[in-house]
Amino acid sequence: VIDGQAPVPLPPLTVLGRPLYGVQSASPLPLESLHPGERRRLNEWEHAHRRVEWLIGRHALRAAAQAAGLPADTSRLSFPHVQISLSHSPGIAIAVAVDRSCGDGVAGVGVDFERERPLSANLLRMFTTEHEAALLRDSSDADVLRLWTIKEAVFKACPRNAGLLLTDFEVTWLSPDGTGCAVLRPDLACFATSSRRHAAGWLSVALCMEP
Ligand SMILES: CC(C)(COP(=O)(O)OP(=O)(O)OC[C@H]1O[C@@H](n2cnc3c(N)ncnc32)[C@H](O)[C@@H]1OP(=O)(O)O)[C@@H](O)C(=O)NCCC(=O)NCCS
Repeated sequence: VIDGQAPVPLPPLTVLGRPLYGVQSASPLPLESLHPGERRRLNEWEHAHRRVEWLIGRHALRAAAQAAGLPADTSRLSFPHVQISLSHSPGIAIAVAVDRSCGDGVAGVGVDFERERPLSANLLRMFTTEHEAALLRDSSDADVLRLWTIKEAVFKACPRNAGLLLTDFEVTWLSPDGTGCAVLRPDLACFATSSRRHAAGWLSVALCMEP
């Protein structure tokens, strides 16, 4: 954790030609800049390390929110959100936002970042559909982790995701350049996705598109 460092913009990200603001933070939001609602949320965390991780997330979230014209007070945001999304990984957080002017036809945005690591066969069974498991046969750990980040980003982009599981969504197409499509079955929503390697891991973003 590096105190006092401003969030860093990510290299340009686009999905279906729409630019997304991506920012990464490795430092907590300074306590003196917290809004009252944020201070209340912070105090709900019991353990110091959870507070630090949460503040790193809020730092990224605030920077992305401001870039997209959303309020700087992140306690006014709730998830899933039509314009903004957040992912934590130990020591870093990544937030992605869509500007309202580019949000025509967008019903939700999602981001997920995971550091490179092998996923157990059990976890693989828990998050893949039969079709995806067939696609993943003989694939590398990196391919599996990539699919995991895509599905987490898709889940987060889905406007009414309460009670849904990753297996309710299916990645239907994934191109070598990292762009792809996913659906919530049975034909309830469709998603455009983009994923790439980032900071020794995979970064995926998803937009839920209005019918
Ligand atoms: C909620 C969930 C998407 C979080 O993902 P994660 O990889 O564990 O954690 P991340 O750090 O990437 O994301 C956390 C952020 O997602 C956002 N988030 C939480 N719930 C959300 C939801 N329902 N929709 C969209 N975004 C959500 C929040 O901003 C949260 O950060 P915050 O608490 O600091 O605000 C995940 O736990 C989940 O429920 N997945 C789908 C359900 C499922 O099938 N689980 C079984 C998998 S085998």
